[in-house]
Amino acid sequence: MNIPDFAEKPLHPPVEWLGKWMNEAKESGEIEPTAMSLSTISKHGAPRSRFVLCKGVSENGILFFTNLNSSKGNEIASDPRASIAFHWPILNRQVRIEGLLKMTSDEDADSYFQTRSRLSKIGAWASNQSQPLESRERLLEAVDDYSSKFINDVPKPNHWSGFHLQPSAWEFWQGHEGRLHDRWTIHKLDDDWLSWRLYP
Ligand SMILES: Cc1cc2nc3c(=O)[nH]c(=O)nc-3n(C[C@H](O)[C@H](O)[C@H](O)COP(=O)(O)O)c2cc1C
Repeated sequence: MNIPDFAEKPLHPPVEWLGKWMNEAKESGEIEPTAMSLSTISKHGAPRSRFVLCKGVSENGILFFTNLNSSKGNEIASDPRASIAFHWPILNRQVRIEGLLKMTSDEDADSYFQTRSRLSKIGAWASNQSQPLESRERLLEAVDDYSSKFINDVPKPNHWSGFHLQPSAWEFWQGHEGRLHDRWTIHKLDDDWLSWRLYP
């Protein structure tokens, strides 16, 4: 990476900036303000994207939860490099983040799992995520089976957990008229961040 000589320390740590923009997206009335596109790398080295919901932004990184046996779960296990993109059309903003994925502790995954609705918890057991499904009825049968099995509490399945994306590079994008957008990138250099603008 070529660092321009006008690169400087960012005005705010990028994680604070993302938190502020996400709050503003929530207040603006976006329907899915926490939805983010997550790209991982297939075992053939090809990029694969899908949306997941961001469940936390902190110094630990950007958090989401999923099924560890899913396609993405297997991809992450063999290559933890990933890229995330948020888009908030009402505010005309985009954020891109690149880095490495690290699995959360079982305790953290468990405490988040317990906040989910009963049906979402049952769904985590019933859905063999990313595997071929013979019919919708088969899925609904599995939901019934697990509902009978777990009459009261639904424990977190071992195959369900969360990941933090630990960022090494960010890009913030604020749209403007005439495509004269503001773009600035923030890269990690040793333990510090350096920021510079990009042509739109
Ligand atoms: C708005 C939106 C949010 C989603 N959130 C999640 C999520 O948080 N976790 C998840 O595993 N799948 C989520 N999904 C489903 C994924 O996009 C995807 O279909 C699923 O995880 C299987 O992906 P895979 O086969 O690449 O592993 C979401 C889909 C949409 C459209």
